[in-house]
Amino acid sequence: MALLVSSWSNGVQSVPKDYVMPPEKRAGDFIKISKEIPVINLQNDRSEVVQQILKACQEFGLFQVINHGVSDDMMADIMVLYNEFFNMPVEDKLGVYAEKSGKGCTLYTSGLDYAKEKVHYWKDTLKHGCHPLEEHTPSWPDKPTRYREEVGRYSIEVRKMGFKILDLIGEGLGLSKGHFQELGHDQAMVNNYYPLCPDPSLAMGIGSHTDPNLITFLQQDQYGLQLQKDGKWLGIEPIPNAFVVNLGYQLQIISNGKLRSAQHRVVTNSTAARTSIGTFFGPGQNYPALIEPAKELVTSSSPQMFKSYLLKEFMADYFACIQRPGSGTVLDSYRL
Ligand code: OGA
Ligand code: NI
Repeated sequence: MALLVSSWSNGVQSVPKDYVMPPEKRAGDFIKISKEIPVINLQNDRSEVVQQILKACQEFGLFQVINHGVSDDMMADIMVLYNEFFNMPVEDKLGVYAEKSGKGCTLYTSGLDYAKEKVHYWKDTLKHGCHPLEEHTPSWPDKPTRYREEVGRYSIEVRKMGFKILDLIGEGLGLSKGHFQELGHDQAMVNNYYPLCPDPSLAMGIGSHTDPNLITFLQQDQYGLQLQKDGKWLGIEPIPNAFVVNLGYQLQIISNGKLRSAQHRVVTNSTAARTSIGTFFGPGQNYPALIEPAKELVTSSSPQMFKSYLLKEFMADYFACIQRPGSGTVLDSYRL
C-alpha cells in the first residue's frame, strides 16, 4: 500500500528519482487543448452522426460524445465516487490492493508490474471486470458502501451507450447491425487517479500507448489526456458530461485498416489531481474464434491488411512489445 502514489505524494516538493522519466519519454513543451478533436452530439440526425463518427475514426481514432444516453447526474455522481475511493484512508483500500495488476479486481500503482519497472508512472489504478455483473461485483471494493450498486448501474448504462456507438461505427463501415455484439462482449473498468505532481516536466501519468482492446469510453475531470496525430500531440478537453471514445487495435484490424487506433498518453498536473474512469470493451482473453478483418471490408481494391489470430496470441505480443520499447508496434507482425 505504501507504494500507491496517493499514499505518499501529498506535499512532496520534488519528484523521486524512480519517477523521473528519461528525457525522450517526458511530456516536453506544454500542449494546449485542441479544438480539432470532434465532439459529436448523438442526438443529431442519425445519418449525420454516422458520417461524423466515421470521419473521426478515420482521421483521429478518437472523438468525444455528448447526449449519449448516460445521464449527467450519473456521470457526476460516479466521478464523486471515484474521487472518494482514491482519497479514502489506506486501511479502507486494503481489500483490493495488489502489488501488480492482476486478473480479478486490483488496486495497484504505476504500470502493470511495479517491481519490474525501472521508472514508474505517477498514477494509481483500480481495475476490474464488469460483465456479466453478478460474476464481478463480489470482487469489487465494498467501500464506499455504495460502490457496487452505483458502479453496477453505471456499467449497464455505459454498455448500452457502447453498443449504440459500435453500431454507429459498424453502419459507417457498411457492416451489418450487431457486428460487434460478440467482439465487444467483454467489459472492464480501468479507473486512474493521478495525484498532484510537483514537477510535470519530469513525471508522466501514463506513457504513450494504444489500447489493445476494441474500444474505450472514458470520463475525465481534469486536463491531462493527449492524442498523438501525425507526429504531434493534441490535448483533449475535459468535458464533464462527455465520454472520450478511443479506438483500440482490434477495431483498426477488424476494419481492415479503414479506421485508426488512438495513440495516447497522460501528462501530470501540478495544480489539480486528475481522475479518469475508463470502460473497455473487447473480445476477452479467452475469445475462442479467430479475429480478422471483416469479410465485407476485404475486396480486390482493398485487400486483407492483417492476418487472423487468436486474441491470446495478440495480447502476448502486445505485452512483449511494451517491454521492448523502440522495436515498433505490435501491429507490425500482424500486417500482411
Ligand atoms: C488507459 C488510459 C487514460 C486516462 O488506462 O489505457 O489511457 O485518462 N487512460 O487515464
Ligand atoms: Ni489507454
